Amino acid sequence: MAHFRHLISIDDLSRADILYILDRAEEYEEIAMGRGMGRVLEGKLLANVFFEPSTRTRMSFEVAMKRLGGDVINMTAQEASSVAKGESLADTVRVVGKYADVIVLRHPLEGAARFAAEHSEVPVINAGDGAGQHPTQTLLDLYTIRKESSLDELKIALMGDLKYSRTVHSLIKALTLFDAEIYLVSPPSLALPEDFLEGVRGKIYTAQLDEIIEEIDVLYVTRIQKERFPDEEEYKKVAGSYKVTAETLRKANRSLIIMHPLPRVDEIDVSVDRTRHAKYFQQTFYGVPVRMAILSEVML
Ligand code: NCD
Repeated sequence: MAHFRHLISIDDLSRADILYILDRAEEYEEIAMGRGMGRVLEGKLLANVFFEPSTRTRMSFEVAMKRLGGDVINMTAQEASSVAKGESLADTVRVVGKYADVIVLRHPLEGAARFAAEHSEVPVINAGDGAGQHPTQTLLDLYTIRKESSLDELKIALMGDLKYSRTVHSLIKALTLFDAEIYLVSPPSLALPEDFLEGVRGKIYTAQLDEIIEEIDVLYVTRIQKERFPDEEEYKKVAGSYKVTAETLRKANRSLIIMHPLPRVDEIDVSVDRTRHAKYFQQTFYGVPVRMAILSEVML
């Protein structure tokens, strides 16, 4: 049984908590597809507080809330909000908490969500804090794996920008709870930070994709997180350095699934979209029932 007030890091959840959320999400799938309306969040209001761009995360929280009978207010940094006048994050969450029952926060600084939760009267859900964590994405990633493949004896390759991708940073932590075999596939300059491996149990290996493509069950691809590079020149050196094409997948297991948190830039060729392996658009949908389960957990 999951019990959490805020959702800041995947580290705050046990394996049992995670499985509980995934089971609850399963129950919400029909409503997420628009078959019937839910009412459990009637009268509740969610505030999206996004200091970085977002399409999927923001919209799927909105859909989740509305299809369960709740409503949503939005604050973006672009708007003429007090933030532009110099309001602190602590004050922003105190104020927004006076209007809404839950705050969904995305912020460019690692640790921002934890800080916000400390100052908030209402639950805070971390929708990405810099290169830190993205726990709701991880829950929907695990849900996708469970639906489209299996969480048991999982062999998964994490490919791309492992240095700055918060989706990878969160997912890796969760995967260790499931005893997965993890292969890290990245250009050397975008490797997973060393300190990250400390305390991470399980089996983690560095690999080239062609060495493992026949073995793996899941290929999880990320885009290069251009906005996190301190130096544009460094970005240019690795831009376009990896790409999955239909040809790459020739030797893949029939049951291999390919996932991507999206947006994709050029790291998965559109020729892959037509293959049986492509699950990244379905993965996006799964964000809705999973976020329904999370919202019910923190608000009911
Ligand atoms: C991811 C993010 O914001 O970290 N996107 C998302 O939430 N679906 C991945 C990314 O931006 O590359």
